[in-house]
Amino acid sequence: MKVVVVGSGGREHGLAEVLGRHAEVVVTPGNPGIPGSVATPVEELVSDGSVDLVIIGPEQPLVDGLADRLRALGVRVFGPGADGARIEGSKAYMKDLLVEAGCPTARYGSFADLEPALGFLRSLPGPYVVKTDGLAAGKGVLVTDDLGEAEADVRDKLAGTAFGDAGRQVIIEEHLSGPEVSVFAVCDGTRTVCLPPAQDFKRVGDGDSGPNTGGMGAWSPLPFVEAGFAELVAEQFIEPTLSALRARGVEYRGVLYAGLMLTSEGPKLLEYNVRFGDPDSQVVLLRCTSDLAELLAAAADGDLTTVPAPTFADDAAVLVVAASEGYPVSPRTGDVIEGVEAARSVEGATLLAAGVGADAGGDLVTAGGRVLNVIGRGADPAQARDRAYEAIGHISWPGMHHRTDIASAGRADGSA
Ligand code: AMP
Ligand code: GLY
Repeated sequence: MKVVVVGSGGREHGLAEVLGRHAEVVVTPGNPGIPGSVATPVEELVSDGSVDLVIIGPEQPLVDGLADRLRALGVRVFGPGADGARIEGSKAYMKDLLVEAGCPTARYGSFADLEPALGFLRSLPGPYVVKTDGLAAGKGVLVTDDLGEAEADVRDKLAGTAFGDAGRQVIIEEHLSGPEVSVFAVCDGTRTVCLPPAQDFKRVGDGDSGPNTGGMGAWSPLPFVEAGFAELVAEQFIEPTLSALRARGVEYRGVLYAGLMLTSEGPKLLEYNVRFGDPDSQVVLLRCTSDLAELLAAAADGDLTTVPAPTFADDAAVLVVAASEGYPVSPRTGDVIEGVEAARSVEGATLLAAGVGADAGGDLVTAGGRVLNVIGRGADPAQARDRAYEAIGHISWPGMHHRTDIASAGRADGSA
């Protein structure tokens, strides 16, 4: 099978690595650290009919309707159309859908006007959760104990000063607490196969300190999640959501990424994304021992029953992100990355290129905030973690930083 992966980061490198075990893979536009990257636009790559499957990685092209345009050309695509991608493109749409589907989620209100928004905010006990309706590159969510700060945030968002049009509608939510887990549900429009859960570490600093990021590390499997959890998520969340989507005329063929909180009242859905998580999907997908291309192609064809259920190695994977100086506020780019070969030679280590570029001499340089995802695999989380940290110990550039507590022993119960 010939597969094209659209995107340029760690998620796409991870997909290419795993798909490449069974298929021929091209990544567009990719980056200089991802083998098989080409600058050719996807429309050109598919024009000769030689491509069997296109997988669209990031949310923006999905929201912009790339899957629809490719399907109109007769291409087999894994990824929702613009109608399905609204789930991530508008949190108000997603929350309405969840209520319709009967999925447990935080109580909420959705507002375009200031006074009712402030009234609802003041009626809540706090901490306060304020979100932009539209896409905000993972930065549109404020969680705070300070009512004044929450009120100011609502004002800024609605005024369009903080996030432009993405913020002109806000969602205000009841605060939930508990460990967070990610479940990736491969969907064929009607049915789903949920992959084993992972956990993402969102804050920039050790002990979950500092600002939110796109994710600084991840691990899977999770010792605090009971067997059968993925099936429970399929039944309680994904299947009802797919039905509610179908009732709206949406045939969702792609991945639904459920961000769940394990509250004392059971799992509740914080958000859906319409793509694989980055970096959390990588600790799951790398452990896949079956043919991922065949699975995603079956979902794209609308019939997951034609392929066997995917299988996963029973080892552990721990991923640590090496980030550039200043990330997440103002990452510096252009620094030469040292030590990649030494890191790759560590037993059980895999390096995925996220924000990587090349300088005029062909050396790999930093080209984004999250630069390299360093994964260790081992018999258990402790061994996987040791290998990930041994590997990342070889990597350096000026100002590089990473968390030192990803999947540490204190995490065995899922707590921060
Ligand atoms: P979201 O983009 O909606 O997933 O939110 C980003 C992060 O904010 C989540 O991963 C949680 O850590 C936190 N968060 C979002 N919604 C809530 C909530 N209702 N209660 C507590 N924390 C939340
Ligand atoms: N790591 C979280 C995300 O992909 O949104």
